[in-house]
Amino acid sequence: MGSNNGNRQSKTWPTEDHPLVVLHGDTRRLIRGLPDCSVQCVVTSPPYWGVRDYGVEGQIGAEMDLDDYVEALVDVFREVRRALKPEGTFWLNIGNTYTSGGRKWRDGDDKNKGRAMSYRPPTPLGLKKKDLIGSAWLLAMACQRDGWYLRNDIIWYKPNCQPESVKDRFTVAHEYLFLFSKSEQYCFNQDVIRDRTADGNGLKNKRTVWSINTEPFPEAHFAVFPPALVRPCILAGSQLNDIVLDPFYGSGTVGAVARELGRRCIGIELNNEYIKIAKKRASAVQPSLIPVG
Ligand SMILES: C[S@@+](CC[C@H](N)C(=O)[O-])C[C@H]1O[C@@H](n2cnc3c(N)ncnc32)[C@H](O)[C@@H]1O
Repeated sequence: MGSNNGNRQSKTWPTEDHPLVVLHGDTRRLIRGLPDCSVQCVVTSPPYWGVRDYGVEGQIGAEMDLDDYVEALVDVFREVRRALKPEGTFWLNIGNTYTSGGRKWRDGDDKNKGRAMSYRPPTPLGLKKKDLIGSAWLLAMACQRDGWYLRNDIIWYKPNCQPESVKDRFTVAHEYLFLFSKSEQYCFNQDVIRDRTADGNGLKNKRTVWSINTEPFPEAHFAVFPPALVRPCILAGSQLNDIVLDPFYGSGTVGAVARELGRRCIGIELNNEYIKIAKKRASAVQPSLIPVG
């Protein structure tokens, strides 16, 4: 893939006729092929550390060492920053995790087969059994040190979160959505995502706690983020026909929302089975009749 727009092929670069391109392989390699300053907005949810087994060699999240995990993602996101336009934004959804307490594997259950794991990483040095690792914040701070502007830590509150049988702490009902920018000044269309005021008569800036239910997506045995979480990111961070990237594409939520909103999209995914699901899903999307942006 060259950096010259005219040479880009629709198979590797989204055009108006072929607005969605999904690249199959390791994002660490494929993202290097994206031209500098070519993408407007990035929305992604990378694998969380030691939480899921995506069953493919090369998966990020299965590192035995927490530092290796953070480093792998910071490296990918450095390439994301290179590929992002100077006025671009990067929206990173990530949750915190607990130490495994010495358990070496985990069974799946009937409701959630994706919980099964053939490995569990050991407790990181300096932490104890039962500790909240804070991996979401470790990653956000590492990205900031690497050059990103960290602009917001949005709490995604999940009213319908999974119940937990734990007796000595509260049930976790939130994840983070970090907003990063490449530059000090950037594209941010706040007007299109304002909230109604309490009396319903006016509009106010969107707040940093977003209450959004998780939505089951039975075809995928892993956490899929809800379209309602992705929509405001794409609306605020891009205009019609701009290019949105998700380097950990999974079942293609970002592609589906990007298409619905009349944006082009590039997804990168390691697991070919997920790409099949994502393609089927995208083919069912109708761009909205009144595109926003
Ligand atoms: C949390 S899921 C993303 C779910 C997605 N947001 C959705 O809505 O379906 C993380 C994805 O990253 C993929 N992945 C893990 N390591 C990868 C790698 N090295 N390169 C590309 N994709 C990878 C996994 O296969 C998984 O689909």
